[in-house]
Amino acid sequence: MPAFSASAPGKVILFGEHAVVYGRPAIAVPVLQVRAKAIVSVDPRSFPGLVKFQAPDIGLETSLYDLPENHPLAAVILKAAVAMQLSHIPACTIKVTSTIPIAGGMGSGAAVSVAILRAFSASLGHPLNDEQVSQLAYEVELIHHGTPSGIDNTVITYAKPVYFIKGRTIETLRVKTPFSLVIADTGVQSPTSSVVSDVHSAWEADQAQFNLLFDRAGEIAATARQSIEAGSVDKLGPMMDENQALLRKMGVSSPELESLIEAARSSGAQGAKLSGAGRGGNIIALVAAEQAGRVARVLEDAGAVHTIVTEIPKT
Ligand code: PMV
Repeated sequence: MPAFSASAPGKVILFGEHAVVYGRPAIAVPVLQVRAKAIVSVDPRSFPGLVKFQAPDIGLETSLYDLPENHPLAAVILKAAVAMQLSHIPACTIKVTSTIPIAGGMGSGAAVSVAILRAFSASLGHPLNDEQVSQLAYEVELIHHGTPSGIDNTVITYAKPVYFIKGRTIETLRVKTPFSLVIADTGVQSPTSSVVSDVHSAWEADQAQFNLLFDRAGEIAATARQSIEAGSVDKLGPMMDENQALLRKMGVSSPELESLIEAARSSGAQGAKLSGAGRGGNIIALVAAEQAGRVARVLEDAGAVHTIVTEIPKT
């Protein structure tokens, strides 16, 4: 049985989550230490359409026939089949594994979609290009997230730092000076769709106030882009702190996030904020490279269930 494999990284949002859903710019970077991987084994002796899924991490073993069409695993294959104009879906087994925390703001869903799209299309001899992969992963996100901005599928597909504005062509960022982040997981799973929908209700109730919060988050993302491209990494910490204050006002922080952010700041991080939808999931802290291990240990002592130290390399 020939097998085709592909993988895709996790991501964190440096600046501008939530505001990005309302058209403001945001910055996201890939996190290469965590990945989703898909292995597609073609089984020419089985019936066409017999697609088996194995996702041992979440104890799932099922098939395309048994899943509803809007299940993310089914949707990704059905959408790929339509995009590739397949007359039938060849029988195969798709094994998915991932080290990206689920529902933690690190893009696990989009990374699984991207890995499957690449491995599945390669198994058919017609690898989809990045634009097609990103678009299809976005369509899968649409089913479950309601109004995704598209930032997750973009940064994960291209695996490069991006300056993202909804609906615009992708802009990659030039990182002049590398910088280090500690990512710390509260262990609280927080589905993006419900947080995004709560922010939407709050925005409807007080558009003037929320538009100001979104505007300021967008301005911070635009200034942060200039700092990253100029190599002025020291300016990013205070901007992360201000972005966190805005996210708190949007109602998406939580006691667990605040306590990790406080621990990061008091142990020498230059700035810290939640990353992703919030209410749970991960915080990110900007640190001097030589401090990263120590800050990560402090965060674990403060209750983080998992930490990742990552360097955003020069590009
Ligand atoms: O929690 P995540 O990693 O899916 O990030 C969501 C980011 C939001 O801005 C809250 C939503 C979006 O679609 O951009």
